[in-house]
Amino acid sequence: MGSINEIANQIYPDEDVQGQKQWESEFPYHWDADELTSRRDLLQFAVYASGTLFLGTAFLALLRRFLPSKKTAPREIARIADIPRDEAVYFHYPGPEDQAMLLRLDSGRFVAYSQTCTHLSCSVYYQKEKNRLFCPCHEGVFDTRTGVPIAGPPVRPLSRITLQANGDRLYAIGVEP
Ligand code: FES
Repeated sequence: MGSINEIANQIYPDEDVQGQKQWESEFPYHWDADELTSRRDLLQFAVYASGTLFLGTAFLALLRRFLPSKKTAPREIARIADIPRDEAVYFHYPGPEDQAMLLRLDSGRFVAYSQTCTHLSCSVYYQKEKNRLFCPCHEGVFDTRTGVPIAGPPVRPLSRITLQANGDRLYAIGVEP
């Protein structure tokens, strides 16, 4: 597509009035300057918008790191002896509609996360054969040990559930923000 001047010249060809096209004398507007200004404005807007998004995300990440875990009533998840290594147990926490998963890692350590994907809230599942947490909606992938996104569109880690062992049983006792 040509510039505005080129398009105007096609519509009103060769109508000179004292060295100007007729339409230019009727509408004395500085089109070139206008295009330059628009591009500069657009570029400025893009820079400010990206900077604001970056600062907002950094602020939320800091907030998440320093806010204490939200305590809720402890809920028993399973007997420790019943969960083999490299296996996941799905449960609901903190509310009856909130899907969550407990993993026993290869090392024997337990971790638990909300199943809600931090991209657009689909459910995340443990894929044992690939040792990853996977969201099928847009192929988001999270690290099993940390819940941090490692592939796909998600940029924030999964919400982590605080665990506590009591006797031979494992309990969920809070959700990290
Ligand atoms: S909703 Fe999980 S990757 Fe998009």
